[in-house]
Amino acid sequence: MDKKHKTLGEFIIENQSSFQYSSGELSKLINAIRLAAKVVNHEVNKAGLIDILGAAGDTNIQGEDQQKLDVLANEKFIQTLKNREIVCGIASEEEDDFISINSQDEQHQNKYIVLIDPLDGSSNIDVNVSVGTIFSIYRRVTPVGTPVTIEDFLQPGDNQVAAGYIVYGTSTMLVYTTGDGVNGFTLNPAIGTFYLSHPNMQFPETGKIYSVNEGNYIHFPQGVKDYIKYCQQEEGDRPYTSRYIGSLVSDFHRNMIKGGIYMYPKSSKASEGKLRLLYECNPMAFLAEQANGKASDGKGRIMELKPTELHQRVPFFCGSTKMVEKAEEFIANALK
Ligand code: AHG
Ligand code: MN
Ligand code: MN
Repeated sequence: MDKKHKTLGEFIIENQSSFQYSSGELSKLINAIRLAAKVVNHEVNKAGLIDILGAAGDTNIQGEDQQKLDVLANEKFIQTLKNREIVCGIASEEEDDFISINSQDEQHQNKYIVLIDPLDGSSNIDVNVSVGTIFSIYRRVTPVGTPVTIEDFLQPGDNQVAAGYIVYGTSTMLVYTTGDGVNGFTLNPAIGTFYLSHPNMQFPETGKIYSVNEGNYIHFPQGVKDYIKYCQQEEGDRPYTSRYIGSLVSDFHRNMIKGGIYMYPKSSKASEGKLRLLYECNPMAFLAEQANGKASDGKGRIMELKPTELHQRVPFFCGSTKMVEKAEEFIANALK
């Protein structure tokens, strides 16, 4: 390499000052996520060897139980985050309730709340298709030094101080924002270092890709059906092309680079859609807006919603601004 490429470690230090709160704390947190990402990446890469190394439920040669990758990813992230003196509470898609950290220790100063989808796109693990991890970070709203409460977790997405994802794809990337744009880092697996490969990522204003599970078409609301037909019509820059991986992280990542819209609408089978507001939609919405894109529940901004429960689901439309606005327009028109 003739050009000097910045590592994630260097980038974190250089950009500390742009963060509005204590910079050292956030650096520690991103560093913990970077470490967990490498550990999970190592495990995800071995997924194809499961018949050789032992499947979930089996006992391995050391007498340890083999775990499903989503359970394992969950544990690795939680362990890594717990071990830094910075996080006071974690909620995960894989856990029924939130986890309180250091709640017995009145001296603790930990201020941050982390919400994670440890393994997104888990149905793709067994077939060697990209999966991801999504994270979302808030400052607690209850007093420091007391045990966290549900209030700390049920904050609107607008309160996020950082969010990002890791995509375990043809290469592994960590993409995140602290509210000052979106940057992407690619892992060099030979030396275990992330390099800044995608500085200042931006959604093209419009695109030609729509991503939706069309198997659910007949169950979609009329406005969504109308928008899908609009995507398929021959006129101007249309028809658009359809691409759907079934891992939100991977679909979002591709659409951010190429221009496109991702949709998981509500349907007659799932009244609030499928995706989780706290673990999936809010972090992706923060990234989308920081990358000049948009994220909506079909009517308005995702990040303005006031969550009412930890595992709440919400319809999700996210991507290139013009495309999301068009989808909203069709949804509004169908309701007239
Ligand atoms: P998870 O694996 O964390 O449960 O998330 C899967 C999500 C999302 O990543 C993906 O886009 C969507 O579910 C796919 O759902 P369908 O199979 O219903 O299309
Ligand atoms: Mn998910
Ligand atoms: Mn998951």
